[in-house]
Amino acid sequence: MKRPIAAIAGTGRGIPPTVVTNYDFPAMGIDTTHEWIVERTGIVERHLAREGETTCSMATDAGRIAMERAGVHPGELDTIILATATPDRLLPSTAVDVQASLGASRASAFDLSAACSGWLYGMTVAEGMIMSGVIETALVIGAEKLSSIVDWQDRSTCVLFGDGAGAVVLKRAKTGKGILSAYMRSDGTLAELLYRPEGGATVPITADVLERRSHLVKMAGREVFKHAVRSMSDAADRALDGARLTSADIDLLIPHQANTRIIEATAKHAGIPMDKVYVNVDRYGNTSSASIPIAIDEAIENGRIKEGSTVLLVAFGAGLTWASMVVRF
Ligand SMILES: CC(C)(COP(=O)(O)OP(=O)(O)OC[C@H]1O[C@@H](n2cnc3c(N)ncnc32)[C@H](O)[C@@H]1OP(=O)(O)O)[C@@H](O)C(=O)NCCC(=O)NCCS
Repeated sequence: MKRPIAAIAGTGRGIPPTVVTNYDFPAMGIDTTHEWIVERTGIVERHLAREGETTCSMATDAGRIAMERAGVHPGELDTIILATATPDRLLPSTAVDVQASLGASRASAFDLSAACSGWLYGMTVAEGMIMSGVIETALVIGAEKLSSIVDWQDRSTCVLFGDGAGAVVLKRAKTGKGILSAYMRSDGTLAELLYRPEGGATVPITADVLERRSHLVKMAGREVFKHAVRSMSDAADRALDGARLTSADIDLLIPHQANTRIIEATAKHAGIPMDKVYVNVDRYGNTSSASIPIAIDEAIENGRIKEGSTVLLVAFGAGLTWASMVVRF
């Protein structure tokens, strides 16, 4: 008999309908061009949440679809892990709001903070809970309303991000399919390369904080770029080693969707040709923790992931954090 393993039973995404293209920015007072953004990042357009669309509402949409596809009722969920850098409010978690929206009355629910690596961190935590027997069924969501924390006066960051949510149901299974390996790392000495300096418990929001815009995202883009390539390359190697596989065994690489140049460098390092790499950053921008589950959901829908596909997932983000996973579908 095959050993039990934590497997993906269903996926979903919740995407706000409003699309903002690079061409829309000048009319929004942002001094940029389509050509600059595409050349540096590969991003063409992104979805942005509007009034009434929240991290909770997008997460709930994604979670509901994932549960329908998995054939799991809200009452069967044991835990909801919501990876997010943009909770709707700071106390309590947004995960409990999602629990209430879904009617998942038996579940425990908590937010997980690891920025763009958050969903892979959440999957690793959920897998541990399943394999140790604490739970049977988890809903792992990445959901972000990044448009609420970027500085719309800073053209070097505001053009990069988008809003959305992706979710999977993770269940104990005996099929030999599921998570084959996982890897997680952080380096807090580099926290200030990508962060929100103020507006937390140390320097709470005041008129001065709002005035100096220090509650919004600040990023040292070039430094982040270098670390992203290095960390994602390392993470890809570690997950392959952990699964005792080589790049030749990988049917699809799904990297965190931040930037096509980072994606290409990661794929090159891993020795995976671009026709085996999933890229949708052109249509979504960087949706942080939501990027990988959105891409998985699309890849299943459009046939890039099939029954039996072996998929390498690699993420990188603020923290700095990075993580990877090999999953057999
Ligand atoms: C952000 C990023 C695209 C910037 O590209 P870059 O080549 O490093 O550009 P720089 O920041 O050095 O800026 C170069 C010039 O472009 C300008 N510029 C910045 N943003 C611009 C924009 N949106 N439109 C036009 N010009 C812009 C800068 O002002 C600067 O002008 P200057 O030379 O006159 O001072 C790039 O560093 C990057 O992708 N970093 C990784 C970011 C990331 O993915 N973060 C998330 C990780 S999860």
